Amino acid sequence: MPALEIDDLRITYRGSRGVIPAVRGISLSLEPGDTLGLAGESGCGKSTVAAAALRLLPPGTEVSGRIMLGGEDILTMSFGRLRAVRWAGASIVFQGAMHSLNPVHRIARQVAEPIVLHEGVSTDAAEKRAIELMAQVGLPAWRARSYPHELSGGQRQRVMIAMALACSPQLIIADEATTALDVMIQAQVLALLEGLVADRNIALIMISHDLSVLAETCARLAVMYAGKLVEEGPSHEVFGHARHPYAQALSAAFPTVGDPAERRNPHGLAGDPPDPAALPTGCSFHPRCPVVMDTCASTQVELRHARSDWQAACLRVEPMAPAQPAMLAEEKHD
Ligand SMILES: Nc1ncnc2c1ncn2[C@@H]1O[C@H](COP(=O)(O)OP(=O)(O)O)[C@@H](O)[C@H]1O
Ligand code: SF4
Ligand SMILES: [Mg+2]
Repeated sequence: MPALEIDDLRITYRGSRGVIPAVRGISLSLEPGDTLGLAGESGCGKSTVAAAALRLLPPGTEVSGRIMLGGEDILTMSFGRLRAVRWAGASIVFQGAMHSLNPVHRIARQVAEPIVLHEGVSTDAAEKRAIELMAQVGLPAWRARSYPHELSGGQRQRVMIAMALACSPQLIIADEATTALDVMIQAQVLALLEGLVADRNIALIMISHDLSVLAETCARLAVMYAGKLVEEGPSHEVFGHARHPYAQALSAAFPTVGDPAERRNPHGLAGDPPDPAALPTGCSFHPRCPVVMDTCASTQVELRHARSDWQAACLRVEPMAPAQPAMLAEEKHD
């Protein structure tokens, strides 16, 4: 059973800034142990998807489609069940989550809190587990007695990862979880997260604007633009050989480390993402697209399979020919 299955998710915020269609029909599926990187410029809807997966959106937000977490329907479940699922089913580590640690409580107590709450064990037993978890994220046991201000930023973000792991979730969403850390610490925290999800067969969605970080950590990459997925496929393909011009520009904006030719010529992308309240017609990337065609402004473009495991939403992508019944029959006899 998939750890997470999102089907045609649409999310519209309504507020003082008017009607904002932040997510416009996204489908994703992750099996246990799968790692998916979700990329795109600021404002394309990444955090909105993450918040929706745990029903953390502000009241009044319109949501349609389906979100199944370990076979349970997140959008229709009771509040009681939802409380149990947040931590034990799935947990999110946000950017700057380390600032949400309570300054007056010792670390062990804070890591133990969700364990006491969800598993009904004693505080002592939960704190013992908390210390074990801290060891797994590379924090020495004596740090358990520290207060948050006594830890560095990297150590506090490790504490947040320990908390995310505390109740053995099937899914972790890391939303720009390492963006605020310096590059060396970021690499350590990413390697740690990668190892932990692999050991425990946890599904991981890692969100970042930095495609190169995602490509190193995740097996698959999905690129969002203006509330939609514009490309989804194996990381090494999407990062190096993207089919969608936006995904191409995004990967070219992060040159390969140590490649002097690329460093001289980073292909940034001019302009800003569109205002979600006033989206361009047709392919919403057309005003910025370097290879735009006459038909792009008037044609709705959906994801199409460039290969069975690789999709892109661009009219220039040749869709894969549908499999012929004869071929399918042959495959069955193989
Ligand atoms: N609570 C909210 N109310 C209204 N609009 C919002 C809210 N949160 C996000 N948005 C808008 O939704 C769009 C997507 O935002 P977000 O999901 O945060 O993007 P990302 O994480 O990719 O930067 C943006 O235009 C943003 O301004
Ligand atoms: S559909 Fe047209 S505008 Fe959109 S990405 Fe492809 S070529 Fe560019
Ligand atoms: Mg965000």
